[in-house]
Amino acid sequence: MTIDAKYLEKFVKVTSKAAIASYFLVGKKDKLAADKAAVDAMRTELNKLDMQGKVVIGEGSLDKAPMLYTGEILGNRKGPKFDIAVDPLEGTNFAANNLPGALTVIAVANESNLFNAPETYMDKISANLNERGVVDLDFSIKKNIYNLSEYKNKSPSMLTVCLLDRPRHKKIIDKLNALGVKLKLITDGDVSGALLVTNEKYNVDLFLGIGGGPEGVLAASALDTFNCFFQGKFLFDSIEEKEIARNLGIKDFNKKYELNEIVSGDSIFCATGITSGDIVDGIKKNNNEFELETFVTHKSMGVRKIIKTKYKI
Ligand code: FBP
Repeated sequence: MTIDAKYLEKFVKVTSKAAIASYFLVGKKDKLAADKAAVDAMRTELNKLDMQGKVVIGEGSLDKAPMLYTGEILGNRKGPKFDIAVDPLEGTNFAANNLPGALTVIAVANESNLFNAPETYMDKISANLNERGVVDLDFSIKKNIYNLSEYKNKSPSMLTVCLLDRPRHKKIIDKLNALGVKLKLITDGDVSGALLVTNEKYNVDLFLGIGGGPEGVLAASALDTFNCFFQGKFLFDSIEEKEIARNLGIKDFNKKYELNEIVSGDSIFCATGITSGDIVDGIKKNNNEFELETFVTHKSMGVRKIIKTKYKI
């Protein structure tokens, strides 16, 4: 079943309104306030839509998050049933410190078609290729680089790998250095990081490393429309995390998920810029209007583009 094209514009409005709400808190050194503003606005906008949308990835469980909690039903309950994954403020540090890359993100699929991800870390890999066996989470760094180098007909020294700059990635970074590849180390924001493989203009050949699981699901839904490759493996640090995952239906804690196990069928993805970053520009104030950019995909319609919108202040 396809998602009606009219919903794309509606979800762009949702992320745009959330981005504007957060914009007022940019640079105020308050991550929580910036996040809360985006959450409140996103929830208000989602509740206006003709749909029965279930939050499968949100701000946490009901006891932790009163709004956009996992399982919350949004919309006027009069339309289609959707699964909704949200990250109202992706890059809380970016917004709080007025740094590039803060986004507000949503992914939507038909009911039961989006993975109900636990809030754990995820080991991820993405590349712009459709074939299996070129890169893989289970391959060594060396094998991934050599295979990709052959596939792309580019020497390893001409390949660029993007990953979060974290101490947990030191070994990977050392190996990549030894292989002579170029690194793009990001301080935060791995939804955007994973999406940099979608277009040559970003000059990123491979994205990998450990980041948030929910962010992995969000990125995967856009990568699906680009026919890109993505795999993710959830990482569980504690018995509590495993218990939560078990309640979400996860039985095998070592399972490597392929893209089509994370998102299936039709989907819509929207990421609106709050501050300017790699994939979209941030909010600009022009006279009495806000100008926004949203990176969008709609799988069944073959839509993958940047939409510019304006809202009266
Ligand atoms: P927040 O917006 O919730 O602060 O997340 C930013 C982020 O960089 C994500 O993009 C990424 O998946 C995650 O944090 C990585 O987590 P950590 O900072 O613990 O390495």
